[in-house]
Amino acid sequence: AVSRVPLIAGNWKMNLDHLQAVAFVQKLHWTLKEAKHEDGSVEVAVFPPFTDIRTVQTLLDADMIPFALGGQDLSTKDSGAYTGEVSGAFLKKLDCTYVIIGHSERREYHNETDEVVAAKVQAALKHGLVPVICVGETAADLEEFGASAVPVGQLEKALVGVPADADIVVAYEPVWAIGSGQAATPEQAQDVCAKLRQVIGAALGAEAAERTRVLYGGSVKSGNIASFMREPDVDGALVGGASLLADEFAAIIRFQK
Ligand code: G3P
Repeated sequence: AVSRVPLIAGNWKMNLDHLQAVAFVQKLHWTLKEAKHEDGSVEVAVFPPFTDIRTVQTLLDADMIPFALGGQDLSTKDSGAYTGEVSGAFLKKLDCTYVIIGHSERREYHNETDEVVAAKVQAALKHGLVPVICVGETAADLEEFGASAVPVGQLEKALVGVPADADIVVAYEPVWAIGSGQAATPEQAQDVCAKLRQVIGAALGAEAAERTRVLYGGSVKSGNIASFMREPDVDGALVGGASLLADEFAAIIRFQK
């Protein structure tokens, strides 16, 4: 069996300006240092606002903290007259490894359709970024269709045209669990993550399904991370609120201890 390296991803959303970002990364560094954290068996990535990326990159360069970096969104376009957009090429130049695509907040507040999400996945791959493709059902979807139908459909559409050897990450984030304090149960997360893995298998083949990390997101905290990580098809977490608290995020990263 392929062993997938767990990925703990911190999505800062629209929080922490660049000065606050410096203070936060330093605090996280000292918190992990005090805990003598050096577990290379977990990969950690942070997703700051665009305006913080350069600042955080400088700290990462200084080996302050061995984290990967990602953007929270990117343009479908490469460059040109697209006021306000940020190209994947620019993220790549700032050493971003990842980019979040199709977060439910983008789908809801910026009308991102499955077609836009699919185009952004292509843009990420074109620029050598690993797309973190977010899918998940709303409370209304859950009531009407059950948990898996909507995220399965979203992922099928996002994977159209993706090559079998592409490096991608999938994040299952039930919208009702985001920022609500009411996480899915580990069983619910496992059930949907396993179905999403089947979608990856159908679209990209068995090898991709084995190797691709599927994350759970939605009210993940230090107190529940281990229960999710015990599930066979949950390969990590996409963390929002708790990723802004140094002690909490450090404890989440150290979930196995
Ligand atoms: O992208 C992560 C996110 O949507 C989950 O947010 O605050 O429930 O951890 P939160």
